[in-house]
Amino acid sequence: MSVDKTPARIAGMFDAIAGRYDLLNTVLSAGLDRYWRRRAIRSLGLTGRERVLDVCTGTADVAMAAGRATPGAARVVGVDFAGAMLQRGLTKVNDATLAARVTLVRGDAMQLPVATESVDAATIAFGIRNVHEPTVACREVLRTLRPGGRLAILEFGLPVIPAVRPLYLWYFNHVLPRIGRAVSQHTAAYDYLPQSVEAFPWGEQFADVLRQAGFVHVQANPLAFGIVYLYAGQRPGATTGV
Ligand SMILES: C[S@@+](CC[C@H](N)C(=O)[O-])C[C@H]1O[C@@H](n2cnc3c(N)ncnc32)[C@H](O)[C@@H]1O
Repeated sequence: MSVDKTPARIAGMFDAIAGRYDLLNTVLSAGLDRYWRRRAIRSLGLTGRERVLDVCTGTADVAMAAGRATPGAARVVGVDFAGAMLQRGLTKVNDATLAARVTLVRGDAMQLPVATESVDAATIAFGIRNVHEPTVACREVLRTLRPGGRLAILEFGLPVIPAVRPLYLWYFNHVLPRIGRAVSQHTAAYDYLPQSVEAFPWGEQFADVLRQAGFVHVQANPLAFGIVYLYAGQRPGATTGV
């Protein structure tokens, strides 16, 4: 199935649901989304000195989690092309008095407004599936990382366990879009979610996309029966031993 991911459509869709995006994340994942984001930050092994880039930052939950973690990031830059999502994020960053540490910038994941080899670690949470050309974005992230810099990506997968899979697919394809539609008042966004997940590579297939983009030490770790994957990788260089 081909899913329309033209940048204008995707940015418009996220702008339209920005006001209800956080609430729906919490409801639809039963609160697990916060745990997944914290796991992603933990996997970076931060020491408190790093500069972290959060691509497709949306309403800045991962950027803020990186800024709040102990030890966490010294500085975080979040990039997204949806202005209304960033506006929500900015309000949250200010309310949490994290503005000295977390900066949000409007920009495209396929052409990041970030200097080459300027960040120590990078994250993308539930964003890469939405990018028009994910391989281009992965190469862009690699470019911005210093040699040895770490990557953590969270993205949906589908559970393979026979007892879980049919139940989850029923929830994902039938229940979730109805709740999403009712709460967000957007007719298409929460139909797009399961459609885009089913059309996107996950597990070892996406790990191979990262390897082809140039990352090393790539791992695909299933969380919650494989509903979500946490991908880890590193830019080759001095401290990776390659
Ligand atoms: C599902 S949201 C994830 C937001 C956030 N990372 C989180 O964990 O909640 C996906 C985000 O990716 C952004 N996005 C998709 N394609 C993008 C691109 N090419 N450049 C920048 N942002 C993009 C959307 O605007 C949206 O805010």
